[in-house]
Amino acid sequence: MSGPHAIRVLVVGAGGREHALAWRLARSPRVRHVYVAPGNGGTAREPGVSNLPATDLVALAEFAAREQIEFTVVGPEAPLAAGIVDLFRARGLKIFGPTREAAQLESSKDFAKAFMVRHGIPTASYRSFEDPARARDYVRERGAPIVVKADGLAAGKGVVVAQSVQQAIEAVDMMLVDARMGSAGARVVIEDFLGGEEASFIVMADGHHVLPLASSQDHKRLEDADRGPNTGGMGAYSPAPVITPDVHARALREVIMPAVQGMAADGHLYTGFLYAGLMVAPDGSIRVLEFNCRMGDPEAQPILARLKTDPVLLIEHALEGRLNEVEAQWDRRSALGVVISAAGYPQAPRSGDPIDGLPAKGNAFDDDCIAFHAGTRVEDGRVLTSGGRVLCVTALGDSVKMAQARAYAAVDRIRFDGMHYRRDIGHRAMDRANRGGD
Ligand code: AMP
Ligand code: GLY
Repeated sequence: MSGPHAIRVLVVGAGGREHALAWRLARSPRVRHVYVAPGNGGTAREPGVSNLPATDLVALAEFAAREQIEFTVVGPEAPLAAGIVDLFRARGLKIFGPTREAAQLESSKDFAKAFMVRHGIPTASYRSFEDPARARDYVRERGAPIVVKADGLAAGKGVVVAQSVQQAIEAVDMMLVDARMGSAGARVVIEDFLGGEEASFIVMADGHHVLPLASSQDHKRLEDADRGPNTGGMGAYSPAPVITPDVHARALREVIMPAVQGMAADGHLYTGFLYAGLMVAPDGSIRVLEFNCRMGDPEAQPILARLKTDPVLLIEHALEGRLNEVEAQWDRRSALGVVISAAGYPQAPRSGDPIDGLPAKGNAFDDDCIAFHAGTRVEDGRVLTSGGRVLCVTALGDSVKMAQARAYAAVDRIRFDGMHYRRDIGHRAMDRANRGGD
């Protein structure tokens, strides 16, 4: 079973994205075992995977050295912004992710906007403010709709798309005067509203070369028809038909390559996953809404469900600066993931509710349908909710519609008090197919 080249790898994080990373790595013929730190109830039940109850970065580095972990993959932004990559590298440990400096592309919106302007990457016009009076004047001058963003990391809660000048001024006051976002909101970026359709374009980068992953689309609002508050993401599918071959080429040429080359020119080689949140206008032109220095969650779940190439091969090439020598193969089918959230999400999620209807062993309902876990834990053999986004049920199908039908059939089997999910994940792709796939 564990051949001479069998390796052990570490995944850092606790969400659905990390469960999908661990699940996919565990299926590599090269991998003997995957550790997830700290993991969740799903990674605890995943064959070939176990949880490591640690989040302290030094403790993780010591574990990786002691257990001869071949490489570490970082899921979320917080440890990246805290410098996990710098720490591991300083100790000679292999890790896939950006350094703390490079992670500023996500951890500071002001840094990201200035970077885009400097390197000619298309994005909405903007200005940054620390002074509320000046920010209010700018809002009045530009008019609504307008977008107010906290500069720092705010777990998806730092963006207000204001429909009126009044609403934008309230957002400015909430961040700069009332300091409701803490230091993350001590500076705000105010930018023009962009219309169009959003898509997630994620690549692996090795400092110089990139390998694009399959395209995807998230659903950020809590309720059907894109209503309700913004969330971390309520479901996703891959591929996203809005990323036509032409848009794909433009995204690489206008956004991704200038970003990787710009980071190199500025002296912070970008390694790791790089996520460009794109707004695609009806004429196919694109602008960057945000950069993230990681895979998306829930985008990672359908993307990884479609990955046919051994992820170990891709990560090894990335760590050696040879991503130009490798290609990723994707399942031709679509994958679609439906997030089930807990009562009270996103404001005040309730936890501790027992979950029924999950697969009896492991997390797969069948080969093409998996319940990836996020906010869950196992207690006395029972799976309980323990966070806002609880599960992401992900299925493959010959079309988005078939993937959707499969995912929802599995969602129907799952029960817990207060569970909530959207019933329309995939609607944009289906609207497009109904219009004749333009
Ligand atoms: P961000 O965290 O910057 O991606 O913003 C969160 C969400 O706010 C995005 O997914 C968009 O739906 C929306 N958004 C952000 N910036 C803009 C913009 N300039 N125009 C329109 N919508 C935006
Ligand atoms: N799903 C959006 C994100 O991960 O940022």
